[in-house]
Amino acid sequence: MPRIYIETYGCQMNVSDSELMLGVLRREGYVRTDDPAQADVVLVNTCAVRDHAEQKVLSRVGELKRLKRPGGVLGVAGCMAQRLGPRLLERVPQIDLVVGPDGYRGLPELIARARAGERTADVMFKHWEHYEDVPPVRGDAVSAFVTVQRGCDYRCTFCIVPMTRGAERSRKLADVVREVTDLARGGTTEVTLLGQTVNSYDDGTHDFADLLRAVGGIPGVRRLRFTSPYPTDFTERAVAAMAETPALCEHVHLPVQSGSSRVLKRMLRRYDRERYLDVVAALRRAVPGIALTTDIIVGFPGETEHDFQETLSLVEVVGFDDAYTFKYSRREATPATRLKDPVPDAVAGERLERLVAAVRGIARRRNVALVGSTHEVLVEGRAKRGELLQGRTRTNKVALLAGPDAWIGGYRDVRFTGTTGSTFTAVPLGHVLGGELAVVG
Ligand code: SAH
Ligand code: F3S
Repeated sequence: MPRIYIETYGCQMNVSDSELMLGVLRREGYVRTDDPAQADVVLVNTCAVRDHAEQKVLSRVGELKRLKRPGGVLGVAGCMAQRLGPRLLERVPQIDLVVGPDGYRGLPELIARARAGERTADVMFKHWEHYEDVPPVRGDAVSAFVTVQRGCDYRCTFCIVPMTRGAERSRKLADVVREVTDLARGGTTEVTLLGQTVNSYDDGTHDFADLLRAVGGIPGVRRLRFTSPYPTDFTERAVAAMAETPALCEHVHLPVQSGSSRVLKRMLRRYDRERYLDVVAALRRAVPGIALTTDIIVGFPGETEHDFQETLSLVEVVGFDDAYTFKYSRREATPATRLKDPVPDAVAGERLERLVAAVRGIARRRNVALVGSTHEVLVEGRAKRGELLQGRTRTNKVALLAGPDAWIGGYRDVRFTGTTGSTFTAVPLGHVLGGELAVVG
């Protein structure tokens, strides 16, 4: 049987797409290997959102090409593949095939052509493509990503995604429900719905509110998440559905990008600072105890120290539980490349440091206040280091606890006993601790 090795960079949607690619190839008889040196086909699923991500992939491809077996195939998939297309083939002669996010159905053919000595780049957009008939090969049975929307119709001026993933389209609600029902029957209890602006989901008949209620109501779905919503695409119906769907977890990742209305306008985000804060307030009213995380870019063209102060103040006002922070990265052919007043790299770097410190400080304050509180965690597996198990709360906090492997994949009630500022240590409720019974909450 031919062996496939696949390495994934970037966002959750890429993780989900890699599962689809494995699904396409399993139908062709491929089995998965964890060792690229043993693989007949090596695929790298890539991200193009920042230059740094692309550089990382290029250096990794440089390593992988040396492991290529005689007759082996090396392919590059995903957003960087879509962005560079044939240019990638020119740049790295050992790459045999390049395939964008809408081309995965054609992988068997592309591989066959590569074997025949033909190097191809398939970067055609297919607006109908949802891979509806492809059963994804998922790694983890307990928690699953389910793509409900592909592409993006927004034009945030910094962002390459509309150019790499094409136009927005939503899967039919019935198809999503069927997939999740099958997952739940197989033992999956946590589902994360994926889309670039997932709350603008619209299948022609049903909106995001319908989707949340439908998926949240599937027997066996104990935790429902979604990522990433666009801040101003939450309708009142969607907020009500969030409040009334018990499975819906108390966490939303709500990318803000900047705290300055002036910068938001230049980014072509469809809200200003006040509107964003209104959305935060509405979500907090609807879902008590909701944790909020965000994405922030510093050093966007024209960002002044005053604008940056607005970002720092927004972080403080909202009190995010966590934030992914990025230095603006200029992406070829995006509208922001035409904006004046680039921010010098040293200035952007220094702002990033200050922002990271602010985010960490606020997260620490929030997290210290949670020590002593009780939570349900889904035990995901062994923590990377040490003997402890890693669990995750509904609010997306990570907690480490001692326990047997038998707990992996199950839910436990725990009490937080300490925090590093970002993650927690915890003890299961009702467990004997040094001869004393921890209080059962
Ligand atoms: N709508 C998508 C966004 C994908 S990009 C989603 O929310 O899933 C993910 C994040 O990368 C963005 O929110 C933004 O903060 C960051 N990003 C995108 N383009 C960038 C660029 N050119 N430079 C720096 N950061 C960028
Ligand atoms: Fe990018 Fe904005 Fe869409 S960040 S993915 S263009 S919503």
